[in-house]
Amino acid sequence: MGRHERKRIALVTGANRGLGFETSRQLARLGLRVLMTGRDEAKGREAAHTLASQGLDVLYYPLDVVSPQSVGAAARFGEVECGGVDVLVNNAGVMLDGRSPRAASAVLPTDLESFERTYAANLFGPVLLCQALVPGMRERGWGRVVNVSSGLGQLADMRAGWPAYRSSKAALNALTRVLAAELSGTNVLVNSVDPGWVRTDMGGSQADRSTLEGSDTIVWAATLPDGGPTGGFFRDRQPIPW
Ligand SMILES: NC(=O)c1ccc[n+]([C@@H]2O[C@H](COP(=O)([O-])OP(=O)(O)OC[C@H]3O[C@@H](n4cnc5c(N)ncnc54)[C@H](OP(=O)(O)O)[C@@H]3O)[C@@H](O)[C@H]2O)c1
Repeated sequence: MGRHERKRIALVTGANRGLGFETSRQLARLGLRVLMTGRDEAKGREAAHTLASQGLDVLYYPLDVVSPQSVGAAARFGEVECGGVDVLVNNAGVMLDGRSPRAASAVLPTDLESFERTYAANLFGPVLLCQALVPGMRERGWGRVVNVSSGLGQLADMRAGWPAYRSSKAALNALTRVLAAELSGTNVLVNSVDPGWVRTDMGGSQADRSTLEGSDTIVWAATLPDGGPTGGFFRDRQPIPW
């Protein structure tokens, strides 16, 4: 539990369903207090109620990651009311490319507005949350940041399709490396995780992994021991190429 004699606090974005929900459950099972955040208050409260009624130490706080005001309010709640956020899981994400009209001959067939909205949630949201929460982690000398990325963002395997989503996750991976380098030697560990292809609203019903399997490496990266890896990209707890 560390020298602060209090439970570690984790803030998970997009916690009302899918991987964020399962990650919250697993972190709470490991003994953390989890701030399950989400932009829809009714869905968020219901998700937190589900886990709380299983005896887990979770609470809901509203957070729309694309809104600086909302990030500011959630960060104040975590830092001031709860005593400090130790673990940040940047899980909230969108994949909007699929909804763009696709002319067979089009190059990068995603409209600019979809790029902007994708980057707002998948990249700028994590930037804002890191800016708000990492200073406290550094001050307290302990922190873990997990950026939930995707194999679709791997430059080593970059292919056609989903240009906004792919490039947002590649940029998120760059953020992981820049931040990890800035925090070198601080005991704040920052990593990207590819959960694999997971059965969620985003992944669809054909995906080969359950949310429990998909959340495993996220939870592992969120609870790394001191001296653990930082600035890496992991799937199944193993490093993978950028
Ligand atoms: N499923 C896969 O196969 C797969 C593979 C690789 C990576 N990932 C990544 O894993 C993460 C979780 O995805 P998932 O599969 O669990 O998808 P999901 O079921 O679609 O869940 C996405 C979550 O993100 C939230 N969200 C979206 N925009 C938000 C915003 N502006 N503010 C706050 N929350 C927001 C959603 O909230 P609402 O309910 O309010 O929309 C929802 O809780 C994403 O970053 C995704 O890119 C998924």
